Amino acid sequence: MSEPLIIDDLDFGQMYRDHQARAGSWAKPPEYWDARAQAFDARVSAGGGYIDAFISHMDLSDCRSLIDIGCGNGALSVALAPHLETIVALDYSPAMLDVTRHRAVEAGTGNVTTVLRAWEDDWSDLPVCDVAIASRSTGVMDLEAALRKLDRQARKRVYLTAPVGAREINSSILEALCRPPAPKIDKPDYIYFINLLYRMNRMPRLEFISHPRSEEPKTDWLGFQRNAAFFLGQLSEPEWERLRAWRELNPDAPLFERDQQHWAFISWST
Ligand SMILES: C[S@@+](CC[C@H](N)C(=O)[O-])C[C@H]1O[C@@H](n2cnc3c(N)ncnc32)[C@H](O)[C@@H]1O
Repeated sequence: MSEPLIIDDLDFGQMYRDHQARAGSWAKPPEYWDARAQAFDARVSAGGGYIDAFISHMDLSDCRSLIDIGCGNGALSVALAPHLETIVALDYSPAMLDVTRHRAVEAGTGNVTTVLRAWEDDWSDLPVCDVAIASRSTGVMDLEAALRKLDRQARKRVYLTAPVGAREINSSILEALCRPPAPKIDKPDYIYFINLLYRMNRMPRLEFISHPRSEEPKTDWLGFQRNAAFFLGQLSEPEWERLRAWRELNPDAPLFERDQQHWAFISWST
């Protein structure tokens, strides 16, 4: 009889990669975020309290520099700029970085520097900062590598948010496309982060921010099409026609039947 499994036997990094593969996840290209930069900015500007909630959980005492990984439209970087001497805002989407620069100019902040870079790129030339943050931006295929990089980039503290639970495609869309119901495999969520950080000998603190991970508000076909293409993968011409017909019949129906309502806020000292 084989030895019973204990937690020490588990390779959480490999398990996360396997979970991503089984859930059908794939690495988003920067073009996906380029295409939604303006809509994302509008949604964040409309509020909802996420940015304020993120900042209210941070401790910036004795900190002068911060690096924001996957900064998106720069809402956090720009809001934090008055409290720090230097901010490095990193993203792989040129359009997102354009919005960040625009926001920084509008706010009159001269201490936000943008860097076009991916999680997966070489970071050896990036400055180590007092604080590293990654807000809603850890959708990578290799989480272990990403957490190690983030940890190396922070002299004092790290703050990130990770998904809680999973999203599920509206089954009536799959029916309209004549696709089989999606296998009910949830994507990996925050619990992997905690286990990986434990293995990295960090002492992560876990809190939750109540904020829905809703789709961008979109009544137009283009926005819906963009989201659908991302979450459903390649669609054939007949499938697009069927989806368009479904959309015309159900203009207000969501792409997701089940969506997350919270973000896990995870922080640790380095
Ligand atoms: C949901 S937005 C979050 C933006 C911002 N951090 C916030 O919380 O408002 C995710 C951001 O992560 C960036 N991102 C996603 N995958 C990335 C990768 N592999 N490398 C660098 N940035 C990435 C996207 O371009 C996008 O700007």
